[in-house]
Amino acid sequence: MPDIENRTDLELLMVNFYGKVLLDQVIGHFFTEVVKLDMDKHIPVIVNFWESVLLEKSSYQGNVLDVHERLHHLSAFRDEHFERWVTVFKETVDELFAGINAEKLKQRATSIATVMKIKLVYGGIGLQKG
Ligand code: HEM
Repeated sequence: MPDIENRTDLELLMVNFYGKVLLDQVIGHFFTEVVKLDMDKHIPVIVNFWESVLLEKSSYQGNVLDVHERLHHLSAFRDEHFERWVTVFKETVDELFAGINAEKLKQRATSIATVMKIKLVYGGIGLQKG
């Protein structure tokens, strides 16, 4: 299997990932009900994000933690939501790609999900003010 090398690979990965999560019993509703995402707009943003994380481009200019904090206030995230997100993400990578970048992407996704989970589900690590 090929490794992830460029934006086209990330697009393929994300189209497949969202193909699964939109239908998912555990987390699908975040994308279809909590926010009614327009995928034609969302996919390029998410591809920018992963391109910035993995391929050292600076195409993503947003703040991913703030976006999910806002979502959390609309519909609270739980542990199982992050577990499911990470499982589907890794599954999708493994179905399509193999190699150093594929491994790096899964690791980054897992650590970002862990940071989000600690911040949102467990209320941080107690070092923030307030
Ligand atoms: C429980 C797991 C998660 C759910 C249900 C979820 C759901 C969503 C939804 C509904 C949006 C659209 C928000 C909007 O446009 O108003 C979004 C945006 C996004 N998500 Fe997640 N997410 C999860 C975890 C993650 C993780 C772990 C990452 C990264 C590793 C991530 C990366 C992103 C990015 C990059 C965006 C776009 C942010 C922007 O518009 O600037 N998500 N997510």
